[in-house]
Amino acid sequence: MSSISVSSSFTGSYSACIFSRRDRPDRSAHFTRLAFRKGGDDRKELQQQQQSPPPLLDRRDMLLGLGGLYGVAASAPNVIANPMVPPDLSKCRKGEADAPVFDGQCCPRYTGTETIYDYDFPMTAIRVRRPAHVVKEDPEYLKKYHEAVSAMKALSEDNPWNFIQQAKIHCQYCNNAYFQNGSDAYMQVHYSWLFLPWHRYYLHFFERILGKLIGDDTFALPYWNWDQEAGMAFPEIFQDQSLAIYDEFRNQDHVTGGKLVDLKYFTEESTLTPEELVQQNLCQVRTAFRQSITSAETFMGKPVSSGETVEGPGQLETIHNSVHLWVGTKGGNREDMGHLSTAARDCVFYCHHANVDRLWDVYRHFRGHVPEFDDTDWLDSTFVFMDENKKLVKVKIRDSLETEKLRYTYERVPLPWLGKINCEETAETTAAVEQNVTKTAVAEFGNMPFDLVIGTPLRVLVSRPTKNRKKKEKKEQVEVLEIENIKVPTNDVAHFDVFVRVASDGGLVGPGLGQLAGCYSRLPHGKKTASMPGTGKLAKVVKNLAKLKLGLSSLLEDIEAEDADKLVVSLVLRTGEVSVGEVSIKLLKTDPVATI
Ligand code: C2O
Repeated sequence: MSSISVSSSFTGSYSACIFSRRDRPDRSAHFTRLAFRKGGDDRKELQQQQQSPPPLLDRRDMLLGLGGLYGVAASAPNVIANPMVPPDLSKCRKGEADAPVFDGQCCPRYTGTETIYDYDFPMTAIRVRRPAHVVKEDPEYLKKYHEAVSAMKALSEDNPWNFIQQAKIHCQYCNNAYFQNGSDAYMQVHYSWLFLPWHRYYLHFFERILGKLIGDDTFALPYWNWDQEAGMAFPEIFQDQSLAIYDEFRNQDHVTGGKLVDLKYFTEESTLTPEELVQQNLCQVRTAFRQSITSAETFMGKPVSSGETVEGPGQLETIHNSVHLWVGTKGGNREDMGHLSTAARDCVFYCHHANVDRLWDVYRHFRGHVPEFDDTDWLDSTFVFMDENKKLVKVKIRDSLETEKLRYTYERVPLPWLGKINCEETAETTAAVEQNVTKTAVAEFGNMPFDLVIGTPLRVLVSRPTKNRKKKEKKEQVEVLEIENIKVPTNDVAHFDVFVRVASDGGLVGPGLGQLAGCYSRLPHGKKTASMPGTGKLAKVVKNLAKLKLGLSSLLEDIEAEDADKLVVSLVLRTGEVSVGEVSIKLLKTDPVATI
């Protein structure tokens, strides 16, 4: 078998490999053979692999993700380069970071005098991350995993490798523990294009440290494979109370009894049957991929440069939020997983993020491994971590793009959301059932912000910049729905869904919402301050102005609405307090990869 089978995860067609691996006793030998094959060779094979199109998202998407543009370097220099730089580690805002459970104490014990080195990228064997529902059957692996986590938990509390210290890193970078160097903007690694690369490094170092603690360079975290049915339940390996990877702060109604995760979860229980839920989950992932394949920003998050904070999460982050919320406790701060400050105190966090990271890897394969953003503000953004040799090191996003460079990969699993599944017929897309219903006129958005109300979708008529676009035009520009000036409290959950349909005769529409274009969601990360007198309700803090961008081109093909002048966009609030300031449709330049 060639090295391809372990060096990427991008199609389902190799699934047979995985399920037969227990028949192959010489697995370690197989990996050792790969261990010293550096960059070039692996690359070449991947490149060859990319010559045959992945079974991606059917029809017109086939033009994407091929090898044609492989090797196009992200080189165009920015006029004013302003990549994110690491914060001054001595200036952690002790006692002030908005982290309820840590009581603001998520700072590390650095003085700021430590030397920060360039990271020596490992030359070790490729570590293979496997699905949690598969490693469940591998007692040898589980023993190592438990040993490593126990060792980490047993370290003295002030050891930077200690489990809680590791968890606090996450809190530091999402709960305003640092200002960005030389600015009064907080350092924040969620809601933007920093989200995926920062978490990739975070997991990498966490994994390397675990490996170090048990003297095993090949140790790899498991991933929670929630994008296929076999892995959709809460991973059983985290259920045993006697083990170090157990965490008591979880919603027991969800994590026991084999319940399937709800990738649209927003604090209310799904009423779908398990079969319907599987379908909805697959559609959720499919939609995110399909609609954002030509525009990385919609998948990965909005650009952010040094000195700025933005609130523009991509659709992968949005789906990931639902998993966090679904695991966290029901009430209170929804710790551990449901609140960003505490999430990393549950071992399942790293397992969940490994899947998020894997899906990014899959996305990169589809797009031929071209850097998602040809922008040095992204590529040169730099983070600081403590490495597996206890050195503080700095790492750049450009070095995180290929997992081979970090010497890990994902074991392949089927990607059922890629196949022919019909996502146009979920319960909520009821347009077909509208023959004899009263139709109403829908107005344009206007200039005033709107408060969304649960139970009453906000429906607006939105003009398209152009219609019946030719194939060539679609290659150059992607049609994007933009929802701007979204205001949400930072200390509570918020979630709304966005549906799109055409208006029928003379601008009239029935109650059917149409096709799901995507979602906006937010996990609480700020402190819940005092209870408000009388009501017992928690005071709301800062409201943020967020922006949501959703790709429309493929959706309009699916609903055969390419000739529509206007679309009816429905915003359906599921939970939280949300207002929106603008809804529009724009044409944005597609990413270079999409213009093959
Ligand atoms: Cu830093 Cu899953 O969040």
